[in-house]
Amino acid sequence: MHQDCKKILISEQQIVERCKQLGQKLSEKYQNNPRKVLFVGILKGSIPFMAELIKHVSIDIEIDFIAASSYSGTESLGDIKIIKDLDCSIIDTDIVVIEDIIDTGLTIKKIKELLYHKGASNVKVVALLNKQSRRICDVQADYVGFEIENEFVIGFGLDFNQRYRNLPYVGVLKEECY
Ligand code: IMP
Ligand code: MG
Repeated sequence: MHQDCKKILISEQQIVERCKQLGQKLSEKYQNNPRKVLFVGILKGSIPFMAELIKHVSIDIEIDFIAASSYSGTESLGDIKIIKDLDCSIIDTDIVVIEDIIDTGLTIKKIKELLYHKGASNVKVVALLNKQSRRICDVQADYVGFEIENEFVIGFGLDFNQRYRNLPYVGVLKEECY
């Protein structure tokens, strides 16, 4: 375990197992879908989760990425900017947004609005982690990997000031590290 980690919350094996289940559910839901299905990863935190998840999706999908900035350190700045947009038109496309964690919900709310504004037919959200107790707006993930308590977590894509994204598990960051 990394020295800045207080404890491992979710092991790599648990994450892989959950990705298999979610991949199967998504494959069933979008089987024979009449429109193109595009998985949109929110950079950078979704990368390890999306990479694992799509291995277990057995239907035809395409992938793209979007980047939004909102966080500096452990607290939300409340101001979310799109810093990398999608490559192609999403008119007549069903979108599956892949997010590392839903905390206040502000990021995912804004991104859903943006995708509908760009003409998406439907937008569903898959989040590796959900901190329900921190929600300040009316938005939910359609699929959640794990519900977690209000603790600051790192690893499997999640960062603190851009560090720890490469840890193969989700751990709790030691208080003295922030
Ligand atoms: P929201 O807009 O408050 O829902 O924040 C979502 C974003 O905040 C996520 O994509 C993460 O980048 C970041 N975030 C929220 N909680 C944590 C955490 O515990 N560890 C690392 N990043 C977090
Ligand atoms: Mg993030």
